[in-house]
Formats: sequence, C-alpha cells, structure tokens
Amino acid sequence: MSTTYTLDTATSRAHPVPEPVRRLSVPSIAARKVDGVTAEPIVMLTAYTTRMAQLLDPHCDMLLVGDSLGQVIYGLDTTVRVTLPLMIAHGAAVVRGSYRALVVVDLPFGTYEVSPEQAFTTASAVLRETGAAAVKLEGGEVLAPTVSFLVERGIPVVGHVGLTPQAVNALGGYGARGRSPGEADRILADARAIASAGAFALVVEGVVEPLARTITEAVACPTIGIGASAACDGQVLVIDDMLGMFERVPRFVRRFDDFATRIDHAAKAYAEAVRARSFPAEAEVYRPKP
Ligand code: KIV
Repeated sequence: MSTTYTLDTATSRAHPVPEPVRRLSVPSIAARKVDGVTAEPIVMLTAYTTRMAQLLDPHCDMLLVGDSLGQVIYGLDTTVRVTLPLMIAHGAAVVRGSYRALVVVDLPFGTYEVSPEQAFTTASAVLRETGAAAVKLEGGEVLAPTVSFLVERGIPVVGHVGLTPQAVNALGGYGARGRSPGEADRILADARAIASAGAFALVVEGVVEPLARTITEAVACPTIGIGASAACDGQVLVIDDMLGMFERVPRFVRRFDDFATRIDHAAKAYAEAVRARSFPAEAEVYRPKP
C-alpha cells in the first residue's frame, strides 16, 4: 500500500511537522472583526477526512466538519439523517490532519434542539472525542438560550442562520432566503439573537445580498457567508463543490478546479493500462532479493 503521509503513533497525528504550529484560537478568530471591520476575511472550507485536512490546513483559518458530509460522502438525500457517531469520526480525522486551522464540527439534527442540557451533552462529547475547538449549530432566536448555555460552560459556538439545511423539510427546499421583508426581518432577528447569545462567528447561508450586508453590520462577531455575497466577513464553501466534483453547480459556487473530469480521465487511463497489461510495469513489481 502506498501512503502519502505517516502517522506519529505517539501523538496519533498524521504527518507530524518538524516545527510546532500554533492553532488559531477562538478569540483570535473573533478578534478579526474590530468595530465592525474585518481587515482580513476569514477563510473557511469544509473538510471530512485527514488527508483533505492536511491539504487545506495551510490555506484556511477554519475547517468545518460540516454535516454536509451526509450528502457529499455518504450519498444521503439531506443532512437530516446524519448521526453523532459519524460527525465524531470525521471530526477526529480532520483534527488529526490539521495543525493551524481552527476545527469546527457541526452538531447533527436531533442532537441539540430539545434543551440546553441536551446540547451540552452532545457538544461536550464532540469536543472531548474529536479534539475540535468549537461546534456549529443551526437555528435562530429559539436556540439563543442554548448558545448562551454552551458558551457560559466553555463550549465555543458558531451559529448558522438564513438557509438552514437541517430544516429542509420545514422550508420545503434550498432556495435563497430573505427575499420578502418579513422573512428578512426574521432572519436578522435570528442573527442578532445568536450573536448576542455569545456565538463567536456566524455562518450566514443562502440569503440575498442586502440582508447579508445588514446582518454583517448588525452583529459584533464575524459573519461567514455561503451563498450570501461578499458582504460577509469571511466565506465558506463545501470542498467538493469548489473542487468541481459535482455536475450540479449552484449559483453561489465557484468551481476552482474540475476534479470530476480529472478523476474520470485518471480512471480511464488506469483501466486502459490494466486491460493492455501495461500496468504494472517492470519498475512497479517486487523481485526476490538476489
Ligand atoms: O454542513 C456544511 O457543510 C455547512 C456549510 C454549508 C456551511 O454547514
């Protein structure tokens, strides 16, 4: 088997680096926004595996182990069916592969909404078992007491408002939010409530540009947009979307590569080489010692 990294069994860290690297902390991310201004936008991508975390870590301030892994990796139709053990396994993998980026793990649907106590039990398990620094949860005003409860007990929280995919069954789809004044007002109230409750950052997903701008001006913590315009204090994309792994490209996604085509070409070349018996070649074969 060929490996592109090694595992340090003393630390369980993949590919140890020679120099100690300090991870970005929750206060350092929160402090990027001063008096409503974020001089250096926050760079966030999703990551689900150790190797991808290694590759993204030097370039990102934050890595999000998003419950989008349900759709991206496991072929589920929505994030509603993603489980806590799944999030913990992938969270731990991403922490093992990263050194500098702050790792945030999504709390899956059904594991935090009942009460602040339920959320604390879930979030503490996530931090304990993955080594991540923070959790993210979806929801607005109704979840504000839960956010305060977690933050006051030492659990850093990233909020998530606007289009909240775990609520897809109630929302009826993934369309942009905040197009009507009433809906925009409700989302703004959600953002204010979650930020006031102590979230150190706020993902704003799938909202119209004026609303993203209003939210970003209204809250003290940095906003991280996905489908929410350049008005936000930072940006996040699903890694497979930006790598061009899927044919469907939502309006807000920019494909920074075309991996699906590249994989297709590589698999085709491999299949041809095997069928032509040109792989493995002489240099790729083990020989007995002379
Ligand atoms: O699960 C996820 O990947 C997310 C991003 C879309 C923000 O929540």
